[in-house]
Amino acid sequence: MTVATAPSLDRGVLSEGNKAKREELIGMLKKAYWMEMETVMSYIANSVNPDGVRAQEIIESLDEDIQEELGHAQELARRIKELWGLVPGSLEFKAEQVYLQPPSRQTDVVHVVRGVIEAEKGAIEFYNRIIEFCDGFDFVTQDMMIEILRDEEGHLRLFEGFLREFEAEGRA
Ligand SMILES: [Fe+2]
Ligand SMILES: [Fe+2]
Repeated sequence: MTVATAPSLDRGVLSEGNKAKREELIGMLKKAYWMEMETVMSYIANSVNPDGVRAQEIIESLDEDIQEELGHAQELARRIKELWGLVPGSLEFKAEQVYLQPPSRQTDVVHVVRGVIEAEKGAIEFYNRIIEFCDGFDFVTQDMMIEILRDEEGHLRLFEGFLREFEAEGRA
């Protein structure tokens, strides 16, 4: 009697032949997950700390972004699991966003705007790399990352607009 086994997949991210590449991708998705989680922490702090009239627009925008970045982290976590990976525990977290630490003066909104721009640029760079890595191999992760990339490009554009205004007024 022959034992029925599930036919193995020949192509795509879940195939046996792509095991090594899949594991490399899971590593990238974990890094992206931590980037999103750190961004949530940094944006919460920087949406509460700033003082002054000029800060209100920044605070409102960051408030909205926090929910989006949290959503990105959840999407990344779910995808890691779908690829047979494990969503890491908090002890694996290492902070990297030196540029998003609270400024010495709480009215220094330009510092926050520049920090957000740097964080968004870092995400855009890295997510483009993931999208390229997924090409012809994992279209589902690629599709997800393209959507997330679009959000990050939107965030970047919004904060670049804030910086332009501060520069035009001689504040930056
Ligand atoms: Fe994000
Ligand atoms: Fe973002």
